[in-house]
Amino acid sequence: MSKQFDVIVIGAGPGGYIAAIRAAQLGYQVACIDEWKTADGKPAPGGTCTNVGCIPSKALLQSSEHYEHAAKHFGEHGISLKELKMDVAKMIARKDAVVKQNNEGILYLFKKNKVSFFHGRGSFVKAVQGGYEIKVSGGKDEATLTGQQIIVATGSSARALPSVPFDEEQVLSNDGALRIGAVPKKLGVIGAGVIGLEMGSVWRRLGAEVTVLEGLPAFLGAVDEQIAKEARKAFDKQGLKIELGVKVGEIKAGKKGVSVAYADAKGAEHKLEVDKLIVSIGRVPNTEGLNAQAVGLQLDERGAIVVDDECRTSLKGVWAVGDVVRGPMLAHKAEEEGVAVAERIAGQHGHVDFNLIPWVIYTSPEIAWVGQTEQQLKEQGVKYKAGTFPFLANGRARALGDTTGMVKFLADAATDEILGVHIVGPYASELIAEACVAMAFRASSEDIARICHAHPSLSEATKEAALAVDKRTLNF
Ligand code: FAD
Ligand code: NAI
Repeated sequence: MSKQFDVIVIGAGPGGYIAAIRAAQLGYQVACIDEWKTADGKPAPGGTCTNVGCIPSKALLQSSEHYEHAAKHFGEHGISLKELKMDVAKMIARKDAVVKQNNEGILYLFKKNKVSFFHGRGSFVKAVQGGYEIKVSGGKDEATLTGQQIIVATGSSARALPSVPFDEEQVLSNDGALRIGAVPKKLGVIGAGVIGLEMGSVWRRLGAEVTVLEGLPAFLGAVDEQIAKEARKAFDKQGLKIELGVKVGEIKAGKKGVSVAYADAKGAEHKLEVDKLIVSIGRVPNTEGLNAQAVGLQLDERGAIVVDDECRTSLKGVWAVGDVVRGPMLAHKAEEEGVAVAERIAGQHGHVDFNLIPWVIYTSPEIAWVGQTEQQLKEQGVKYKAGTFPFLANGRARALGDTTGMVKFLADAATDEILGVHIVGPYASELIAEACVAMAFRASSEDIARICHAHPSLSEATKEAALAVDKRTLNF
């Protein structure tokens, strides 16, 4: 006998678990299925984000930042340490404990919201009267469920280079990169994207010599050029070696390390010898375990589930959200889609504004942005005004001892509506929220410029950048 539910969610990453909770809040009987397990086989809901993504990477970024501060900056504050030591095993154990807290938090939230959790792989069996039959197998729970509405939120996995599989010992995906047991002397990274820069920063701070090889000729091509240039300057100064426009050739992983043959931007051949190699060249959607063909669910050539603007798939009553569909692969994008889908199922008007999804790269300096870049506005022929304010002129940044970077505003030349905000510098991840709120309310740069911001705070740099649009900064 199959168990009946109004809504079945497959995947308990940020897209799935949030969709399940929102659907339960709206009064539905909800099941959420997830197959992720800990090394000892226990359920570990939270998906990539919680287990091998956002949360553990930020835990390691925090630990390594503390270490770098202690090594390089405590002295400026008059603090001296006799002997600074890094216990990598303890750092990894702390990261694992943070992950576990989040896994447990999600199980608690399921209980609180009366979401039935099933551990195992969820796969389509067949369409039935008024819904779909889903089989759960391979985990702690074996079951057959029937749901009127199905939300697929199965996420994504790291893309490997053809002919170089991940062994997670020497050739590492994000998974292995988050549990390196000792600081490698030399670390190679392929792909200067978000993971490459974040994970490269962690191990560089702890003492590894890090070389990042990027295929494209431009650094962080999707980021506002002025901001990317400023970030690049800071990374160069820190000693993070980044080579652009390379063509990666043969990669050989042996007992002693990994050798990477590549041609540089001028075509000269090189060999990079490293102890470990992180391959971070993007991610592929997880659809292979769904048995999508059993019900005729349409996938595209990348294996992603085809959806419309509102996350409807090719099948009535089947929705898909997060990394498994088009759009940026970000946890908060997945969450917003999950909420919107649950609300659409309930006949409400769930909405996600793709122009207002912020991006953050948690390096030091942090890089954050929302809306359009200057190069996009130029391409679109939009007339705009730009205003920037450097953290060097911000009192709080000076007190923090971190004056790298700037805040940059882009506003419509005629109406002054904010079109984009770009930040490189301390706590950019937190500062960007003000820009998101302002843009959601379609504020003008003058609106921000006229709002009282606490002193001394980094947010004053945001106000000053807004003032700069009208060429009237007060502190620069
Ligand atoms: P996922 O989180 O991938 O969850 C999908 C879940 O479904 C998994 O638990 C999977 O096991 C399960 N599953 C798959 N198939 C089945 C099946 N058939 N049956 C049952 N279960 C199944 N994003 C940010 O916004 N901020 C960050 O700081 C950030 N940092 C990141 C750092 C790293 C190293 C990585 C790799 C990613 C990072 N991301 C970050 C991206 C973020 O993790 C993803 O965008 C997000 O996890 C996508 O959520 P999701 O719910 O779509 O999928
Ligand atoms: P990415 O798309 O950010 O970067 C991949 C990089 O690899 C690109 O610059 C690309 O040009 C390069 N590349 C691709 N193939 C290559 C090759 N053969 N040789 C050399 N370079 C090559 O992908 P990444 O870093 O793997 O991360 C995946 C996704 O995870 C991100 O796009 C993001 O959506 C998400 N993520 C988000 C984070 C955040 O929000 N802070 C942190 C980490 C990941």
